[in-house]
Amino acid sequence: MITTTDLTKVFRADGRETLALDGVDLHVRPGEVYGVVGTSGAGKSTLIRCVNLLERPSSGSVVVDGRELTALAPKQLREVRRSIGMVFQHFNLLARRTVQQNVELPLELTGLTRRQRAAKAAELLDLVGLGEKAGSYPSQLSGGQKQRVGIARALAGDPKVLLSDEATSALDPETTRSILELLRRLNQELGLTVLLITHEMDVIKSVCDSAALMRRGRVVESGTLSDLLATPGSELARALFPLGEASVEGTLVDITFQGDSAVQPFISQLARTYNVDINIIGAAVETIGGRQVGRMRVQLPGDFEDNVVPIGFLREQGLQVEIASGARVVEGAA
Ligand SMILES: Nc1ncnc2c1ncn2[C@@H]1O[C@H](COP(=O)(O)OP(=O)(O)OP(=O)(O)O)[C@@H](O)[C@H]1O
Ligand SMILES: [Mg+2]
Repeated sequence: MITTTDLTKVFRADGRETLALDGVDLHVRPGEVYGVVGTSGAGKSTLIRCVNLLERPSSGSVVVDGRELTALAPKQLREVRRSIGMVFQHFNLLARRTVQQNVELPLELTGLTRRQRAAKAAELLDLVGLGEKAGSYPSQLSGGQKQRVGIARALAGDPKVLLSDEATSALDPETTRSILELLRRLNQELGLTVLLITHEMDVIKSVCDSAALMRRGRVVESGTLSDLLATPGSELARALFPLGEASVEGTLVDITFQGDSAVQPFISQLARTYNVDINIIGAAVETIGGRQVGRMRVQLPGDFEDNVVPIGFLREQGLQVEIASGARVVEGAA
């Protein structure tokens, strides 16, 4: 639904150049919720603004719903943009307009009659749970309600794609959750593809199907959450599912498994077969991207070299196994 290919963006200001995007390939499939994370200045906002050409890329291509946006004439681009909704961190509502009038705003240039616009706005406000606030002004709303208006406005053009730049970062945790639930519901009910930027792993964990990690203008990791969790050494996987610090002796091994598969019998079998003492340091099952994923950290006595065979055994059982301590040794060995 959204594909960027070798996207670059150079900003020139005060005689200095900033390479904000450095060859970004992003692929968002239709109907998925895709999250982009990364430290401040990594290029996340620039990327999302290039996706609807609010920012013109320096080079590379942006294809949304089958159309190459960089090739469109201004008039066509305006039309296509209407099918790409955008939600902002600070809501960007007009203070002197009512809630209803804010939602109607993007419809004013579309040739709909006043009555049709009002009907559409009312329908959208119902959809986001704000039907009763149509006549209120933004200053009379809570942050969460303002963001609901922002979302209703973004949906006015019946978009297939919704872009969201830190839509929940000005909100408290509970309100954040309700806005995320709304985005998820819209994704499911309307088949809306959502590309969102966040700096919170919890947001990724609770609503995203896929994620990308950006650093210095590049996408350094990306994929579906389950693929990421199954990727040894994935930074995103570690951030999504932290298992605490590795400070105990011996060799620490992290095992990742689908929530319903039992890992315990393998551990018992391993202990019996190789006569090793295995300590379970921690274990947890979480729902990530709507799927149950389990992780267990176990401690084996001795260095990595002493445990090559038991670790090989676990891998042979089809378990995903990562060495959490003694990693330097492992990298050399792997
Ligand atoms: N209009 C601009 N002019 C010059 N430099 C810019 C402009 N917009 C962004 N930049 C620079 O581009 C880089 C990427 O900025 P961007 O806003 O995309 O980062 P971000 O990942 O969204 O960060 P944050 O998490 O703080 O929002 C930064 O170094 C920033 O200073
Ligand atoms: Mg930003």
